Amino acid sequence: MPRCTRLTFFNKLVESCSSHETAARMPQATQNAGPSHYDLIGREVAVRKLVDRFYELMDEDPDFYAVRKLHPPELDGSREKLFMFLSGWLGGPQLYVEAFGHPRLRARHLPFAIGIAERDQWMACMVRAMQDVGIEESLRKQLAQAFFQTADFMRNQQNR
Ligand code: HEM
Repeated sequence: MPRCTRLTFFNKLVESCSSHETAARMPQATQNAGPSHYDLIGREVAVRKLVDRFYELMDEDPDFYAVRKLHPPELDGSREKLFMFLSGWLGGPQLYVEAFGHPRLRARHLPFAIGIAERDQWMACMVRAMQDVGIEESLRKQLAQAFFQTADFMRNQQNR
């Protein structure tokens, strides 16, 4: 294929993707080089522990009430889906994608009003959960940055 045709094809591909929620736009925790965050954190057992603590805190601590009240009364389904999603997002088995297809995570959050306050509560809850389950400090910082990118991507309320 001549170079200009290749470029046109590439530009079309980018254009066709840019209006949709694509894997490229979806912030990921792990890039390709080195051990995955999934391995570093301690694989399945550790991801489950993190998600369990996250929802336990959200359920019990009034600091996270604004985010808690967006969720259903029973958190079992939310817990299982976040576990499956984080498994792949951290670079481990793509459990969520295998079960449900492309996450379309932003679209799935559109029914819930998410502004800065909700983003920050979600983040504070995750940061506490990472501390409580004993994730090592430098990994915790890296993950907090990656979580923040994803949480910020979920915002759908511009002015609050
Ligand atoms: C920014 C603040 C966030 C809020 C307020 C929020 C809130 C919610 C709510 C209310 C649900 C529905 C729960 C249910 O139906 O059981 C949900 C689902 C979900 N959230 Fe979030 N979320 C936020 C950020 C995130 C982030 C950063 C991630 C990933 C790193 C995430 C991953 C998920 C997943 C995987 C689901 C399940 C989607 C499905 O298949 O229905 N959320 N979230």
